[in-house]
Formats: sequence, C-alpha cells, structure tokens
Amino acid sequence: MFGLAFGSYQVLLAKVDWNNSESCKECHADIYKEWETTRHAQAWKSKQFTEQTQNRTKADCLPCHAPKPIFETGIGKENVLRDDNRESGVNCITCHRQNQKALGPFKDTKGECNPAPTSEFKDNSTCQMCHKNTSEEWKTSSFSHEGAKNYSTCAKCHMKPIKRAAAKGGVVKEVFQHVTYGGYDLKALQESVRDLTVTVDKGKVHIVITNDCTGHTLPSGTVGRQLLIMTAVKDENEKTVDMHREVFEKGDNKEKKDTSIPVDKKLELMYDAKITSGEIVVKVLYKSTPTVKDKGAIEVTEKKANF
Ligand code: HEC
Ligand code: HEC
Ligand code: HEC
Ligand code: HEC
Ligand code: HEC
Repeated sequence: MFGLAFGSYQVLLAKVDWNNSESCKECHADIYKEWETTRHAQAWKSKQFTEQTQNRTKADCLPCHAPKPIFETGIGKENVLRDDNRESGVNCITCHRQNQKALGPFKDTKGECNPAPTSEFKDNSTCQMCHKNTSEEWKTSSFSHEGAKNYSTCAKCHMKPIKRAAAKGGVVKEVFQHVTYGGYDLKALQESVRDLTVTVDKGKVHIVITNDCTGHTLPSGTVGRQLLIMTAVKDENEKTVDMHREVFEKGDNKEKKDTSIPVDKKLELMYDAKITSGEIVVKVLYKSTPTVKDKGAIEVTEKKANF
C-alpha cells in the first residue's frame, strides 16, 4: 500500500525524467511520433550500425550514435558516449537538455521542462556536432549567406516547418517537424534532381542537373553513397543501341576520391547519339548504403526525350 502511494507521488513530482526521452512524449506527442520514425532514433539500433561496429564494440564509432547532451558536452567539442538509454540513439535529450533545462529556439516559452532560448538552434550548430562534412559543404555554399534568396538552415529543409502547438496546450505557431527527410526519403531525393533536363541537338545528347536544392554536395554524408545516372539510347524499334553509366560518389579524398556533385554547380553530360532518330531514356538512381550487401539502388526519377 505504502509502496504504491509513494510510487505515484514520485511520478507527479518528476514529470520530466532528464535521462529518458520517453518522458517528453506526454506533452510533445507530435514531435515524439515523428522522431520515432527517423534515422536519429535508429542511430544505435540499425542493422548497418550493428554490423559495421561489430556489435557496437568499435569505441571510435559510438559517441555520435548515442551521445550525451550536446549542450553539456559543449557545441564544437567531440561527442561523448552516454552511459544509459543508448538504444534511443540521437534522442530529445541529446539535442535539447542542458542540466535541468530544455534549450530551444523560442524566447519566452513556459513549461514543465523549463524551456530556455538559445540562438544555436538557428545557426546549424546542433547539426554540426555530428554532420561534419555536410556542414562544411553547406558553409561554403550560397545557402549559408543570411539574407540571400536561397538562405536556408539545415532544419528549414530537413525539418519542414509546420503550424501547430509545440506542446500540449501551447499556442499555435510556426514550428519544426522532427523528421530526417533525406537520403532514405524518395521525395527528398526527387527534390534534389527536380530540374534534370534531357535534350538531343545536332546528334548530341545533353543531360543537365543543377545541384541547387540540397545545400551540400549530392550525395553528401556517409562515404560511399552514390548517385547513378544511367542513359540508354534506343532506336525506333525500342532496341537499345548504346548505354552510359556515370557514378557520383561521396568520398573523403583520402581513401576514396570524392566525385559527388558540388553544391551550387551544374553537372553536364554529353554523348554522341549515334543514330539519327529514336529515344533517350535517362534514369537517376541512389544508393544510400553501398556497404550493406543486400541493399540495392533505388530509382529516383526517369526522363525521356524523343529525337
Ligand atoms: C537532432 C537534434 C534534435 C532532436 C533529436 C530533437 N530535436 Fe527538437 N529541435 C531541434 C531543432 C534544430 C529545433 C529548432 C529548429 C529551428 O527552429 O530552426 C527543435 C525544436 C524543438 C521544439 C520547439 C518547437 C518546434 O517543433 O520547432 C520542441 C518543443 C522540441 N524540439 C522538442 C523535441 C522533442 C520532444 C524531441 C524528442 C522526441 C526532440 N525535440 C528531438 C533539434 C532536435
Ligand atoms: C509536462 C509537460 C512537458 C514535458 C513532460 C516536457 N515538456 Fe517541453 N515544453 C512544454 C511546454 C508547455 C512548452 C512550451 C510550449 C509553447 O509555449 O509553445 C515546452 C517547450 C519545450 C521546448 C521549446 C523551448 C524553446 O524555448 O524553444 C523544448 C525544446 C522542449 N520543450 C523540450 C522538451 C524535452 C526534451 C522534454 C523531455 C526531456 C520535454 N520538453 C518535456 C511541456 C513539457
Ligand atoms: C548527436 C549527433 C547528431 C546530431 C546533433 C544531428 N544528427 Fe542527424 N544524424 C546523426 C546520425 C548518427 C545519423 C544516422 C543514423 C543512421 O542512419 O543510422 C543521422 C541522420 C540524419 C539524417 C538522415 C540522413 C539520411 O541518410 O537520409 C538527416 C537528414 C539528418 N540526420 C539531419 C540532421 C539535422 C538537420 C540536424 C540538426 C538539426 C542533425 N541531423 C543533428 C547524428 C546527428
Ligand atoms: C536547400 C535544402 C537543404 C539544405 C539547406 C540542407 N539539405 Fe541536406 N538534403 C537535402 C535534400 C533535398 C537531400 C536529399 C538528396 C541527397 O541525398 O543529397 C538531402 C540529403 C541530406 C543527407 C543524406 C545524405 C545524402 O546527401 O545522401 C544528410 C545527412 C543531410 N542532407 C544533412 C544536412 C545538413 C546537416 C545540413 C546543414 C548543414 C543540410 N543537410 C542542409 C536538402 C537540404
Ligand atoms: C562525428 C560523429 C560520427 C562518428 C564518430 C561516427 N558516425 Fe556514423 N554517422 C554520423 C552521421 C552524422 C551519420 C549520418 C550521415 C548520413 O546519413 O549520410 C552517420 C551514419 C552512419 C551510418 C548509417 C549510414 C547509412 O548509409 O545509412 C552507419 C552505419 C554509421 N554511421 C556507422 C559508423 C561507424 C562504423 C563509425 C566508426 C567508424 C561511425 N559511424 C562513426 C556520425 C558519426
């Protein structure tokens, strides 16, 4: 009897468990539901991570995949592996906790989690703690110039803004969804190659893609990711008379050359058509996990041109 009563009393006192992201769910249900579906929530548990780290025994690999709160470690410092709840990967506490406060982008918010504002949510500092190469690319791109027409933080593209309350009972305002719209998302991939053009002129096939929708190289992130452009030249009987395959691969320029498409740059491919009339079929494919043998490339888009 005493144990039960004491137990529920404790729950009332400690609504926010600063070591467990599950305790954020009650008041931030929408955000929690989104986060659960992300790669961030999978960062410790995923099959790839388990395999590549030999069952999480490679010490160098672990810190960014289940870190202590970044605002306690210090922005700009190296992540430190946390001791508890590692299964939840990159969780609410990782990005928001500073001691007994929840840091966030808004001023003057009140709640049981002691919300407090910091400008570091608006300048990509949080993402830079872990996404190092991608953040460097962004910094050199036109997307990083505040005031420019295409100025965009990582969050603006990856955590699509939406109007709703940030917490149960809060006021409706523009907030950010907690998704990691990226290389595992067909819509994001399609957005990145939305202005692909295919034309045939004077016996030459022209293919153009401008990397002006990603804010970083295409692809970025994990070394080994590939964007493939497959071109088939078909005659009037739909027989393939010629084929081309180009691979744009994320590298580190140490062990692997970086051939990804630079940000803000236009990629142009040109081939001899070889025949005078027919059809060109261009397919764009993307391989997010080249290191996992059982995972193939996914088809992002297809464009055709008759000549
Ligand atoms: C990878 C880091 C990261 C993780 C993990 C994360 N957040 Fe956030 N969160 C952000 C960023 C960045 C913003 C602000 C984006 C902006 O304003 O540009 C934000 C904004 C918020 C806000 C303000 C309202 C809004 O949606 O913009 C709340 C509340 C919040 N997060 C709660 C949570 C909760 C609860 C979880 C766990 C389910 C969580 N966050 C997980 C980075 C994170
Ligand atoms: C009992 C309810 C409750 C719980 C539990 C709770 N919060 Fe909150 N949180 C709120 C309220 C209310 C707000 C203010 C919302 C508003 O006014 O827009 C808020 C705001 C926030 C903000 C925005 C801060 C800002 O200034 O931009 C963040 C980030 C946040 N919470 C993170 C968390 C995290 C992380 C957890 C779990 C460790 C958590 N919250 C648990 C109620 C709660
Ligand atoms: C504490 C480290 C950490 C922080 C901070 C962090 N990320 Fe991540 N992020 C990861 C890890 C680790 C993964 C990969 C998880 C996996 O795939 O297993 C990931 C995956 C992603 C993906 C999915 C990539 C893909 O392959 O499609 C996106 C998009 C992303 N993060 C965006 C962001 C943004 C935007 C921010 C800043 C608001 C951010 N991340 C902050 C560690 C972090
Ligand atoms: C202008 C919008 C935009 C901005 C700004 C942006 N991204 Fe992306 N990002 C995308 C799109 C679209 C994709 C999907 C295409 C792709 O895979 O590159 C993507 C893919 C990714 C991926 C998956 C890896 C990959 O490229 O295959 C990661 C990780 C990522 N972004 C992180 C970030 C981080 C971190 C920042 C900020 C430093 C950022 N992004 C800024 C639009 C954006
Ligand atoms: C500096 C922080 C950091 C360290 C250290 C780190 N990672 Fe990651 N890891 C990330 C981020 C950020 C991503 C997301 C990038 C993306 O999805 O393109 C990621 C993604 C991954 C993924 C998912 C890749 C995919 O293609 O879906 C695997 C698996 C992975 N890392 C394994 C490792 C291994 C193995 C090591 C040690 C050799 C390691 N990580 C060390 C930050 C880190």
